[in-house]
Amino acid sequence: MCGIVAALAKRNIVENLLEGLRKLEYRGYDSAGVAVISNGQLNRVRSAGRVAELAALCAESQLTGYTGVAHTRWATHGVPSEQNAHPHISSDIAVVHNGIIENHDAVRTKLQSDGYHFTSETDTEVIAHLIHQHTKTCKDLFAATQAAIKELLGAYAIAVVRESDPDRIIVARQGAPLLLGVSDGEMFAASDASALLQVTRRMIYLEEGDVVDLRRDRFDIFNDGKPVNRTEHLSELTADAVDLGPYRHFMQKEIFEQPGALANTLEMVINAQSLSPQLFGADAPNIFAEIDSILILACGTSYHAGVVARYWVEAIAGLPCTVEIASEYRYRASVPNPRALVVTISQSGETADTIAALNYARELGHRYALSICNVPESALVRLSNLRFLTRAGPEIGVASTKAFTTQLAALILLTLVLAKLRGRLVASKEQEYLHALRHLPAALSNVLQVESQIKTWAEKFASHDHALFLGRGIHYPIALEGALKLKEISYIHAEAYPAGELKHGPLALVDKNMPVVAIAPNDALLEKLKSNMQEVRARGGQLYVLADQDARLVSSDGVEVITLTDHAGILSPILHTVPLQLLAYHTALARGNDVDKPRNLAKSVTVE
Ligand code: M6R
Repeated sequence: MCGIVAALAKRNIVENLLEGLRKLEYRGYDSAGVAVISNGQLNRVRSAGRVAELAALCAESQLTGYTGVAHTRWATHGVPSEQNAHPHISSDIAVVHNGIIENHDAVRTKLQSDGYHFTSETDTEVIAHLIHQHTKTCKDLFAATQAAIKELLGAYAIAVVRESDPDRIIVARQGAPLLLGVSDGEMFAASDASALLQVTRRMIYLEEGDVVDLRRDRFDIFNDGKPVNRTEHLSELTADAVDLGPYRHFMQKEIFEQPGALANTLEMVINAQSLSPQLFGADAPNIFAEIDSILILACGTSYHAGVVARYWVEAIAGLPCTVEIASEYRYRASVPNPRALVVTISQSGETADTIAALNYARELGHRYALSICNVPESALVRLSNLRFLTRAGPEIGVASTKAFTTQLAALILLTLVLAKLRGRLVASKEQEYLHALRHLPAALSNVLQVESQIKTWAEKFASHDHALFLGRGIHYPIALEGALKLKEISYIHAEAYPAGELKHGPLALVDKNMPVVAIAPNDALLEKLKSNMQEVRARGGQLYVLADQDARLVSSDGVEVITLTDHAGILSPILHTVPLQLLAYHTALARGNDVDKPRNLAKSVTVE
């Protein structure tokens, strides 16, 4: 969950490395470092804290270099500190690493007995010493790196430079993302394309097990010791897609990008007269004809999208659907059904637990996998038979927003396609749903108008330490998502419950100091939810209610209602998500928190 950048040019590349790190800070931001070679000398600058602090130190020391590696860290082994910051050095070799070396204890013990002295608590330092040890016999940096990684277990994307071999960088990938950026007479590598758009749009996505010998004017990729070719792509991303523009925070930008993100994601159906299974890939008609159920695997916000989908899939497509938290599923002795369609949902496509869960499902005998993902070349997409790419654009804020609503759009499409194939969607209903989908971006723009009302809620929430979120039926996962957003960036302890469950325990928490958010559109369970809201009021709880016009709810003593203007029907969960994102955002702002970089978290969880 760290970010790495490497650059090889004939000019000073320190600013490019720092700019790359700024773009990768969403992956981790507790410390940062850079090592560059200039005039045959390897120099390193590291700092605890953000890239801005590292940049100030680099300016102070007038660091320059034409070959270099850089890193922004999310601590796994060892506290965030300068000493634990990457690059790690062994003699004349410097290494940056994203991932976790699982056998680092054993390797460290062996290296210590061979005389190596460790200066950090990280697992990464073993890589630097191990490569150095191999240079004693292999001499060549590429061969030494290849030999060293054969001894490593776990996940890594690494970049290695050597003072005595200054025109070369070795990079390798196993279980963590890494791509090359190609330019005229210059070569780059990074954890993600956003870091390299400042210098090139020509990208090469590396595969598992690739090791690359990078020179300024060429690169040689090897896998399992043999040379391999990888396709070059021209990135469709533009540099402004990863810039803040007029916004204060990426999360704010991404919340307001949702109408456009949904329009892009739905583009193919917005212009179509009917729904087609090919939306999910060329093999979708055959695979969809085979399946008898759905198994959804995901983490965090993406898991919440899966929980919403379960309601849709069972009610509309009539297929049994289970949803599993990937980190639990991967270790559970479950009973496989080879006819189930395994659906992974992920913004990044690199979440270690979700990848492991999919691999585990395959081992158990599951045959069909569909990935709903926002990153085209990601591991999950490549591991799946079918894919649906959400077209949300890069999501930088750690708190996921536009990825979630576009995932929901993809999941309702999947539901409708399956319903149609199973003869459960008459033509008139299909047209009605298509009409609703076409209107969705505009409906979302309308929802964003509630921001000023939400700000007044946020001012009140900011002074609380706890909050409850209630929903029923398909709006229960939206309550889960609202609670996750609030705790993630405002650090307020927030819990979500299906409202009918209140009286079985959580009601004991309710008093006048407990704000309770209820998601209350006019659905089949509204009357039940109203009774649950009465139970809260009777205990003095302060209710903050999100409703639609059909719910006919009005504010009263202790009950504040915000009413959404659109009648969203089955798309109601998508619309009701947005005010909760705004609530979390404004509450975090009111509490003075770093919205885009909440404490202890990172955007892509590429370690277990
Ligand atoms: O990239 P993914 O969608 O697989 O990530 C899954 C979770 O780590 C992610 O949704 C996380 O829960 C977000 N920070 C929530 O806002």
